[in-house]
Amino acid sequence: MENENKNTFTIIDNRTGASYTIPVQDGTIRAMDLRQIKVTPDEFGTMSYDPAFMNTASCRSAITFIDGDRGILLYRGYPIEQLAEHCSFLEVAYLILYGELPTQDQLHDFERNVTLHTLVHENVKKLMEGFRYDAHPMGMFISSVAALSTFYPEARRVRDPEQRKLDIFRLIAKVPTIAAWSYRHHLGLPYVYPDNDLPYTANFMNMLWRKVESKYVANPVLARALDILFILHADHEQNCSANTMRCVGSSEADPYVTVAAAAAALSGPLHGGANEAVLTMLAEIGSKDNVPAYIKQIKEGKGKLMGFGHRIYKNYDPRARIIKQTADAVFEVTGRNPLLDIAIELERIALEDEYFIKRKLYPNVDFYSGIIYQAMGFPTSMFTVLFAIPRTVGWLAQWQEMLEDKEQKIARPRQIYIGHSRREFVPMEKRGTPQQMAAV
Ligand code: SDX
Repeated sequence: MENENKNTFTIIDNRTGASYTIPVQDGTIRAMDLRQIKVTPDEFGTMSYDPAFMNTASCRSAITFIDGDRGILLYRGYPIEQLAEHCSFLEVAYLILYGELPTQDQLHDFERNVTLHTLVHENVKKLMEGFRYDAHPMGMFISSVAALSTFYPEARRVRDPEQRKLDIFRLIAKVPTIAAWSYRHHLGLPYVYPDNDLPYTANFMNMLWRKVESKYVANPVLARALDILFILHADHEQNCSANTMRCVGSSEADPYVTVAAAAAALSGPLHGGANEAVLTMLAEIGSKDNVPAYIKQIKEGKGKLMGFGHRIYKNYDPRARIIKQTADAVFEVTGRNPLLDIAIELERIALEDEYFIKRKLYPNVDFYSGIIYQAMGFPTSMFTVLFAIPRTVGWLAQWQEMLEDKEQKIARPRQIYIGHSRREFVPMEKRGTPQQMAAV
């Protein structure tokens, strides 16, 4: 008999001979539709098991589309290459947050609203001054963004769209200020206040690099390069930190502590911390001549080629290609970073080597970005902070989409329990060796 609806799976449970018809939608089945598959009626039912969510869609999202096999990245349907070429970062931020490219008036209002919120409370400055002189800027960034939560208790009203809109402006505006102050603290320099005459990225550079001049003038080539880097880092669908943002946000925590949690996830070397790890790796390699020996070590399983590989991209990360092109413009101003030659040789050899080809390992967004940041004068400890600034926009867009999704609720996965079955308490005087106790 023809199935009533072709878009179904028929699952036959060989344990019972029962068969089940499971709907298929968007190439997926609902994990909850598996729960009906039982051997006995009083069973919990069947779950899916997917450590690290290798094959699990956690949400429906309209923000970013990635085709990992073809190296395609779209923000709200627009190719990243076109956005990087034609837009400012705040223009792309508007697109990611609200779904459409802004009109001139909409962009002007958005820029003004962000500009109005660039200052942070003086107590945040005092809190930051309390860090050790050599505190890692990412630790300062995460802690200070979380601290913003104590200044805006009304932000707990996460279901209020107007409140969310205000907190989104505040966070987009304040993360560059906190990032720049983390950098200045690291160097033992006085903090520089925002200059609201300047556009977003130039103002960030002002807070980073103004010394004693009364008015900071940003080098337009470097300002544009930073704007492009911000665009490329703005969102990337359900990556580790976006998943963290959605998970923490699903408990209705306020957006400040939620962004701090996402930034904490980003700080890991397998995620946003990789750009810092790439520079450490290139410095360790030291010269082009040492590249073959280094590759040999990687192939022997002695570590990973940082800045290579990706869970989704099994082709060249389109962002890495654009960053590599941007590097030339930056080096015109800053002088060529000699580590670029090592990176290019590393890429050349790796892309020809069966080990990397078989595993579809290509340069990702982190492979070249750090070389540009270093050429601009940033210490490697600032690289992940530079990733977190633009990614705050993506995290907030994912957070907002999660809150507005009627299907979403507090995230609480299940588990497969592999521990002890019930056992009785053993008083101290009767406890044997740890081995004996584990055997109880
Ligand atoms: C980002 O998710 C996102 O979108 C993230 C991001 C974003 O914009 O948010 O794109 C930003 O985090 C980019 C990734 C930055 N991280 C790095 O560059 C660190 C180095 N890369 C790897 O750690 C790794 O490639 C991951 C973490 C990025 C992806 O790991 P997966 O998908 O879990 O793949 P895997 O670890 O299962 O690797 C599959 C195989 C393994 O070999 P075998 O066990 O089959 O022998 O490939 C090997 C891995 O050992 N492998 C690598 C490697 N990455 C994977 N071998 C050497 N060097 C590497 N970099």
